Formats: sequence, structure tokens, C-alpha cells
Amino acid sequence: MKKNVLLGITGGIAAFKMASTASELTKKGYDVNTVMTKSAQEFISPLTFQSITGNPVHDDMFSPPEHYDIKHISLARKADIVLISPATANFIGKMAHGIADDLLSTLLLATEAPIYVAPAMNTNMYNNNIVQANIEYLKEKGINIIKPGSGDLACGEEGKGRMPEPEELCEYLEFGLTQKTLDGKKVLISAGPTREALDPVRFFSNYSSGRMGYSLAREASFRGADVNLVSGPANLAVPLGVKIDKVETAREMYEHIIKQAEDQDIIVMAAAVADYRPTETKREKIKKESRQDFSIKMEKNPDILKELSEISSPEQFLAGFAAESSNIEENSRKKLKAKHLDLIVGNDITKKDTGFESKFNEVYLITKEDSVHIPSKTKNELAAVIFDKIEELQNLGFSGSDNNA
Ligand code: PMT
Repeated sequence: MKKNVLLGITGGIAAFKMASTASELTKKGYDVNTVMTKSAQEFISPLTFQSITGNPVHDDMFSPPEHYDIKHISLARKADIVLISPATANFIGKMAHGIADDLLSTLLLATEAPIYVAPAMNTNMYNNNIVQANIEYLKEKGINIIKPGSGDLACGEEGKGRMPEPEELCEYLEFGLTQKTLDGKKVLISAGPTREALDPVRFFSNYSSGRMGYSLAREASFRGADVNLVSGPANLAVPLGVKIDKVETAREMYEHIIKQAEDQDIIVMAAAVADYRPTETKREKIKKESRQDFSIKMEKNPDILKELSEISSPEQFLAGFAAESSNIEENSRKKLKAKHLDLIVGNDITKKDTGFESKFNEVYLITKEDSVHIPSKTKNELAAVIFDKIEELQNLGFSGSDNNA
């Protein structure tokens, strides 16, 4: 059944951004219901949300029902999650004091669903002691506050108070909606390429963007794990709740991973670690001079995953990836054995629309017992499939995938 997201929109100029948020959520397959305050309707028409979500927009406690339905109770009950965005200073004040004088403020007192609030207002209003005290009080009462961003504000000033962009709001909601099946677990993920310097301007690297590893870190964090991501150079936003160690070389990645390996319940190596590095890194830029060609001597980097397999305890779960250009299953299986892994994810890195850099990936999930082909999916969706498999193998709270819509 579709999960129900209730959007509560109050009267701020950022209300217009909620049209994209509602659209994004509807596209993702959620049943989106919208409740608007009277002042929100001064900024954007209810018809916009009705057209986007396909559901009627609610604003009135006392409108005659088509069939018997106490609106604030039925909406409150139906909601799996509630997002108040933009949340004005006035509405935050009402929430903090339990005031219920319209449909939105009333249903918030009736719902048992998790509530996320995205304050958006002028910087001085946001920094005002009373507003800050109200926000702190809401936090104490278990309301999730989404921090506003900084930048140009509609009032012409610059500073804190900007409502986050729709994609970020959706991330908070997906975080809130994901079952916390990895609660209490520690998960270490590696991502991205490494860079092995030749001189101050040149390095050896590969095409890894970090997407696959960041998607895995996101999924583990959304499932409630305490996640550490060790990332080579990547141009991606750090997923919600994830702690990051940024590294550059294979040896740095090795040090950061081995240092924290002992405490981890699950380790997944998605990084494309350089197997070799130049024996020497020149301090000065190598000049062209008159040479037609020249050779570079390389030496071996540590094999992080191999070493992890030697030091890990039997309770720890160890997964790797295999980047293959032919005989995917066979070659991946060899790596599974050689590195004593619980799981290896084999992918074909010669395909254009999957693997390196792409938003998509198509893989084989290979264990000692079996091999399952997973057709092309977004890396976020694939990360959910991979963690379902890990939970299944570990006999955790795997439920056949409420987390994997
Ligand atoms: O980052 P993206 O653009 O999203 O691309 C994703 C990906 C293609 C990089 C990813 O899906 C992937 O395949 N990652 C592993 C790449 C790789 O290095 O594969 P490998 O077959 O060379 O190595 C096997 C395993 O050993 C990997 O888990 C690797 O992290 C690990 N390894 C490799 C070398 C080394 N020195 N130390 C290691 O730990």
C-alpha cells in the first residue's frame, strides 16, 4: 500500500517550493495529502496541489463532508509522516503552545505520525529568542526540525532562514519513513576513487563518481545504522545522518578503514581503490623537455578488503564489489573466495548506462550459496536491495522489503 505523506503548508513565500516537493513525492509513489492554512493560500492556490497530487486540498475544519468524516482525525490517522513546510514563526509558536485553532494545528495534536518541521522566515525572525525557544521546545517534544539553509531571502536580506530545496525535504521524509531495521548497528562504507599522485599536477585515478558508495551509506543511515563513510574525491552531498572521512590516496583510505574496522558490524567496500601507485611522487612538476616517451615505475597499494578479511571476526559482515569487464559472475566469485567475503556485488563496468558514474547499476549479488541477477536500477534502489540481502544473510529484521518500494 502507498505510504501517506501529509504536507502542511503555512503562509510563507517559500510555499511555492512545495509544489515541486508535492510533485517529487507523488512521482516517487507516495499518496500525498495537503492541508493549507488560510495565509498559505495567499501565496499559492490549493488547485496547484490538487492538480499535482490528485487529492483534494483541505483547509477547513468545518466544511460539510461528502461522507461522514471528522477531517482532522481522519487525516491525522491516515498520515504515515507529516511535513510542515514552510513553517512560519507564527505556526511554530502555535505548535509549541498546543494551540489548535485551525485544521492543520488541530490535526497535529491528533496524529501519531512522526512530524518534520521546516522553518522558513527572515533571518532576524529566525534568530529571535522566542522563535528559537519555541523550536528548542518542539525538539524536546520529539518534533524533527529541518534546519533552514542560508542565502538570499525573499525579503531582500541574506542569511539563515531559507527553506531547504524540495530534494532535501524529500530526503528527510524518506529517512523518516524507512523502517529502522539496522538500529544499533555500526556500518562502514567506502566510496569513490583514489588518487595516486605522480607530481603536483598529475595523478592516476579512475572513473568512480562515488555514487554507489554514497547510496549505500544513505540506505544504511535511513535504516537507523550509525554510518561512517570513507570517501575518495567525490562531488556528492553527504547523505543525511552519515559521518564522512574524506581521503585521497589508497594508503589514506587503508588507514581510515583499518582504524575503525574493529567496531563495525557491517563493512561494504564500494570504493574503486587504485591497485598501484607511482613508486615516487615528484616534488616538482615533470617537465616535457625533449623526451618522446618515458616510463613510470609503479608499486602495489595495500589490498584493504583482503586485509579486512584477515582481521575481521566471524560476526562481522564483509561485502565487496567486483568491477569486471568480462565473465562477471565467474570473476566476482573468485574475488569472493580469495577475500573470504560474505557477499560480493559483481558489476560490468564496460556498460554505458550502468556502473561507473551512472545513476544506475546492474549487478549480481553473489554469496557462497547463490548468485542473483539484479536488473538495472537507480543506485539508491539497488542499495536497498543490497541491504535487504545483507539483513537476510544476517537474519536481521528483514521484512521482504517495506524499505524497497
Ligand atoms: O562510484 P560509481 O561511479 O558509482 O561507480 C561504482 C563502482 C563501479 C565503482 C562500484 O560499483 C564498484 O564496482 N566498486 C569496486 C571497484 C573495484 O575496485 O573493484 P575491484 O574488482 O578492483 O576490487 C574488488 C574489491 O576489492 C572492491 O570491493 C574494492 O573496494 C576492494 N579493493 C580493491 C583494491 C584494493 N587495493 N583494495 C581493496 O579493498
